[in-house]
Amino acid sequence: MLPTEVSSRSSRRLILAQGAAVLGTAGLGLGLPALARAQSQRVRVGLMLPYTGTFAQLGNAIENGFRMALDEKGGKLGGRDVEFFKVDDESDPAKGVENANRLVQRDRVDVLVGTVHSGVQLGIQRVARESGVLNLIPNAGVHAATRAMCAPNVFRTSFTNSQPTLALGKPMVDRNHKRAVWITWKYAAGDEAFEGFKDGYTKAGGTIIKELGLPFPNVEFQALLTEIASLRPDAVACFFAGGGAAKFIRDYAAAGLKDRIPLYGSGFLTEGVLDAAGPAAEGIITTMHYSDSLETQRNKDFRLNYAKTFRLQPDVYAVQGYDTGLVLMAGANAVKGDLNNKQALYAAMRGVTVDSPRGKWTMSKAQNPVQDIYLRRVENKENKVIGIAAKALADSGAGCRLA
Ligand code: PHB
Repeated sequence: MLPTEVSSRSSRRLILAQGAAVLGTAGLGLGLPALARAQSQRVRVGLMLPYTGTFAQLGNAIENGFRMALDEKGGKLGGRDVEFFKVDDESDPAKGVENANRLVQRDRVDVLVGTVHSGVQLGIQRVARESGVLNLIPNAGVHAATRAMCAPNVFRTSFTNSQPTLALGKPMVDRNHKRAVWITWKYAAGDEAFEGFKDGYTKAGGTIIKELGLPFPNVEFQALLTEIASLRPDAVACFFAGGGAAKFIRDYAAAGLKDRIPLYGSGFLTEGVLDAAGPAAEGIITTMHYSDSLETQRNKDFRLNYAKTFRLQPDVYAVQGYDTGLVLMAGANAVKGDLNNKQALYAAMRGVTVDSPRGKWTMSKAQNPVQDIYLRRVENKENKVIGIAAKALADSGAGCRLA
C-alpha cells in the first residue's frame, strides 16, 4: 500500500487536529517522553518535482521510484509512518524559493526531496541552507549544489551535470569522430554538461567546431539542424532530456541527419523516450550511470517490481528516485526514526554504500555519488550496455568544505 498523501488544506487540518490530541493526552499526565511523542508522529516528506511541462515524466518516475523503495520495506522511515506533501515546481526557477518555502514553512516537512531542474535546485539550495531542512536531490545536477554551495544537510543521489558527459568524448574519438558540434538547452544543466564533454573530448584529441544552443524548454530545432547540416561535423553531441529529447531525436532523423552524422549524447537523451522517439533513436550512443540492460539480479528485480507496480518501464529517473528512498531509509533507520538527531543522521547517509539497480555507489565527501558510467547504444528500444566508460567516477567537489 502507498503511504498516505496529503496535499489539500482540509486534510492538513485533520492531521494538525490529531497532533493536538496526542499532545493533549501527554498533558493529562500519561507522561509520554518528548522523543516518543515526536517518534509517534509521521515523518513529513515533501516532494518538490515537476509534474507538468517537458520534465513532467521525470518527476513522476522519481516519485514512483521513491515510493517503491519505501514500500518494499513496509512503507516506513525508521519505524515511523510517512506522510507526503507535494508541490509541482513546473521546472520554473523563478518560483524555486517560493515553492520550497511552501513545503518548509507551510507544511513543515522533515525532509524535502527535489528536484529535477538545476535552476530550480538553486532555489531549494538557498532554502535548505537557510532553514537547515534535510534536502535530497534526486536529479538536478547543478555543480554548485555539491561544490561551492554544498551543505551538511544537502545530499545528492543522482549526478553532477558534468559526470555523464566527461566520459563521452573518448568513445567518439575512438570511433574516429574527431570534429564535433555540441548542441543543448542554454541553462546550467546544458552548460555544465558541456564543461564535462569539452574536457573529455579535447583531452581525447577531439575538436569542438561549434557550440549551438536554444533557451530551455524551447523545442524549435529546425534552424539549428540546418546549421549542423551545413557545418558537416563528424558527429553531434548533446544534452536534452524529457519531452524535448524525444522531439530532438525525431527532428534530427526527419532532417535527414541520422544516417549522415552520428548522434551522441549525455544518456538523458535516450531515457524514458524510446517509445516516443521510435526508430529515430536506434543506434544513438550515450554515456550514463544506468542502463536498462544491466544484467544484475538487483536490476532485474527492480525492473520487474517497477513494471508490475506502475505498468511502466523504469528509467534512470526512476532509479534515482528509488536510490533517494534507499539513502533516506538508511539514515532514518540508523537513528531509529529520530530525524532530529542530525549528526548521526547525516553521518549514516554520508557513509552509505547504496546497493542500487545502477550498481553499488558511495557518497563523496561533498555528498554526491561516486559511480560507474556506462557506455550504451540504443538497440530495439533499449539502452544496451556496450562498455564501461568510467569506473567509480567522482565529481571534484571543488570549493566544498564539509567537516
Ligand atoms: C538539470 O536541470 O539538472 C537536469 C534536468 C534533466 C536531466 C538532467 C539534468 O535529465
